[in-house]
Amino acid sequence: MIGDRPEAGGPAYARVAAAIRRLVLDGRLPLDTRLPGERELAAALGVSRTTVTAAYDELRDGGYAVSRQGSGTRSALPPSRGGTRGDARGGPAWTPWAADGSDLLDLAHAAPEAPAEVRRAYDAALEQLPRHLPGSGYHLFGLPELRAAVADRLTARGLPTLPAQVLVTAGAQHAFTLVLQLATGVGDRVLVEQPTYPNALDAIGRHGATAVPVPLAADGWDLGAVAAAVRQTAPRLAYLMPDFHNPTGLLATDAERRELGAVLTRSRTLTVVDETLVELALDGPVPPPLATHLPDDLTVTVGSASKTLWGGLRVGWARASTALIRRLAAVRASVDMGSAVVEQLAVTELLGGLDAALPARRAELRTRRDALLDALARRLPTWRTRVPAGGLVLWCDLGAPVSTRLVGAAERHGIRLAAGPRFGVDGAFERWLRLPYTHPADVIEPAVEALEQAFRAVTADGGATADPVDAVA
Ligand SMILES: Cc1ncc(COP(=O)(O)O)c(C=O)c1O
Repeated sequence: MIGDRPEAGGPAYARVAAAIRRLVLDGRLPLDTRLPGERELAAALGVSRTTVTAAYDELRDGGYAVSRQGSGTRSALPPSRGGTRGDARGGPAWTPWAADGSDLLDLAHAAPEAPAEVRRAYDAALEQLPRHLPGSGYHLFGLPELRAAVADRLTARGLPTLPAQVLVTAGAQHAFTLVLQLATGVGDRVLVEQPTYPNALDAIGRHGATAVPVPLAADGWDLGAVAAAVRQTAPRLAYLMPDFHNPTGLLATDAERRELGAVLTRSRTLTVVDETLVELALDGPVPPPLATHLPDDLTVTVGSASKTLWGGLRVGWARASTALIRRLAAVRASVDMGSAVVEQLAVTELLGGLDAALPARRAELRTRRDALLDALARRLPTWRTRVPAGGLVLWCDLGAPVSTRLVGAAERHGIRLAAGPRFGVDGAFERWLRLPYTHPADVIEPAVEALEQAFRAVTADGGATADPVDAVA
């Protein structure tokens, strides 16, 4: 994997191979691109032709290049990344929520605390509970009033939805795994943005499916790349986050949504649209849901109360055609029989008052985002990041492939981080770090001070010296 980049001083062929591999994994070298001829690359890099031959051999052995008679050597990705994260074949799982009992400041997760409304909603839910106690308490599809509240919210956002088109789940991740269980089998391909949400990659691996990464451009969706990936790999499923994409924070424009919709509709690709962060717009309106450009029978929109309100509620939903919702509910019944009634009552209450509560939630997040941007500009001015228009995180270009080492150093300075490679297929993004702005501003300043010290520690020993990628690019 990319974190295993041979240090300077390793064999030249291995460094050339590692550099090209990173270009492929970072998405800077699109799949199926013809690599330069051996003689040509040797001359460009000032190395011997044998070095390039050995580098290409290594890339082929690892699945990062294929050679075909007449079409030269072309970039590729290994068919499966079994073992780099948890999967059905028994690799070690990344368990981000593991409680390790440490007192590190958690910058690895992007989950804000509950607003005051959550406590009040639980009080209201308990008052309503007696109405439900005479019933069985089992609601496989969800409490009718919550299904209606979710449908109303989606309808108000421009996606007409009936309560029967909603399945209440234990969060968006649960909803996504139900779709995987329903629709994918071992070896199926699932198109994902690169980078993407790590738990989605984990779930795809555990179902024995293979993630097909499509690189995001610096400022949005590369529609040509999506179309090419759909054409070339015929994915069984696509998993997309057009609304404050995690980790880049990107928001798809209306035009991008239209084109994504057109590509996926033409290919009849079953699409999961993850809208977990959609309500956290900080700088302006969000275009209508991607699902408005997709057929109902091939689209599952998943949403959640986790980030808008509180992760501890464990309430999310799937929205699709009624037929698809029924099939997802049947899958769900083999796992669990429904969500807890009190939490569903609380979320119903919270959704009813969401328009009143959101301005304060957004204002606080805006303050935190700006505090983090300000602290980074002062203390780590070489890092580069786009200002996200919403969501919960900054995606920072560190300028050098030191993310994994920075995570280790940061722990020694009291900070828990998630390294960039968590967000990429097969360990891409060693130059990148995701930083949440979910902590109050007075926590952010000392946290960035600690990050600055950790970054100095890892770059002091040459970690920020020229990346061989740049020599090849
Ligand atoms: C994009 C995205 N999808 C899904 C989830 C999981 O949400 P839930 O808590 O609803 O399962 C998260 C949480 O970080 C997320 O960022």
